[in-house]
This record gives sequence, C-alpha cells and structure tokens, in this order.
Amino acid sequence: VPPLIVAPSILAADFACLADEVRAVEDTADWLHVDVMDNHFVPNLTIGLPVVQSLRAATTLPFDVHLMIEDPRRWAPGYADAGAYNVTFHVEACDDPVALAKDLRSAGAKAGLAIDRDTPIEPYLDLLPSFDTLLIMTIKAGFGGQRFIPNLLDKVRTARRHVDAGHLEVRIEVDGGIAADTIAEAAEAGADAFVAGTAVYGADDPAEAVRRLRSLARG
Ligand code: DX5
Ligand code: ZN
Repeated sequence: VPPLIVAPSILAADFACLADEVRAVEDTADWLHVDVMDNHFVPNLTIGLPVVQSLRAATTLPFDVHLMIEDPRRWAPGYADAGAYNVTFHVEACDDPVALAKDLRSAGAKAGLAIDRDTPIEPYLDLLPSFDTLLIMTIKAGFGGQRFIPNLLDKVRTARRHVDAGHLEVRIEVDGGIAADTIAEAAEAGADAFVAGTAVYGADDPAEAVRRLRSLARG
C-alpha cells in the first residue's frame, strides 16, 4: 500500500482522447480519479458507466470513481461491477450510507464517503469503520479549476485525529484545487490521497506534474 496516493482527475483531460490522456499518467499516478456528474446533484454533466467500462480496458490504473449524483444506491454498484477500485458517493445524496458501503464491498470495490464544502464532518465520523476512503472536498463539488479553500482543511484535521485515535484503515482524500502550492498544507493537515485535475492535465508534462505533486506532499 503506497503511503501517499496521487490521483489525476480526468475531468481536466481532453475527453476526445481519454485513453491517451490516461496513458500519459499511467507510470506515475497511483489511481485515476473519475468524476461522474449527473446535472442534478451538481449543476454539471460529465460521463457515466459506458465510458468507465470502455476506459477500464485502456489502462491498468485503479479507478477512483467519484459519484456526484443523486440516488447513488441505484448506480454505484454498477461502477464496482465495471471494475472500479474505489467508489465514492456523497453523504448529502444518500440516506443510508452504511448500507451502500456494504453493497459496494460485496461487489468487490472499496467504499468511499464524500463530504461537500458546506457539510460538517462530525456527524459522520461514526460511519467511518464502514468505509475505506473519506473524500473531503476542498472546493464546492461540481467543477474543476476552482480555488482551493484552506479553511476546509479543518475537516481533514478532525478526520485525521479520529482515524488515528480509532486505528481505522481509512484513507483521507482531498479533492479540489490541489496543486503545487496547496498540496503540502493538505498533507500536513492529514490527507494521504490527493486528487488533482488542472494541476496535472493543465501542465505541459502531466506525468512529471504527478511526480512533483507526490514529492511536495511527502514534504
Ligand atoms: C470537482 C471534482 C474534482 C475536479 C478537481 O467537483 O470532484 O475531482 O476534477 O479539479 P481541480 O484539481 O482542477 O480542482
Ligand atoms: Zn472529484
């Protein structure tokens, strides 16, 4: 298990040549972050299951699927069946997160719980033993290229204390505005998985950008 995960987000890639874009980071990335949006849970629309299924054959990278959709109980297990390594859904969209986490694990995936910008973390800490990943948004979910919100790292600190005190095996992932100038503070706050869209695919050399982010996160 790598100590730190860097997960490039294909939201910032060229959707006309996704397979090439994914292969560009294959040797340096740990996971590939796939943002699924339904234009209901967030006011933006991206890709769904057919694209994930096709992409699965194009790379060996583990897929970190981030569902920004309503009714995740209906859709999430399909992503596990499609071979996703980790499937994360939003707590704001699900009335029984523990049940869905169980379904995902039975379908062979890791289960992730995502917390959006305006949602406090304290009420959900007790759910963490059912999850493998806790994704803490460091922006409001919906669009790439937004500015990192440093205050949201308080949630990361709270989660890190809770995970360490309980000896839980839960990764703490940050998503939104993670770049060379923000990743170190996110790591110091206790994150150990880092999603980066613009900072990777906006760079001249995406593979090198991933390497650089990892070394900055190591501190
Ligand atoms: C936004 C997505 C993010 C997005 C991050 O809701 O969840 O994964 O790709 O993009 P950057 O790294 O550009 O903020
Ligand atoms: Zn995401």
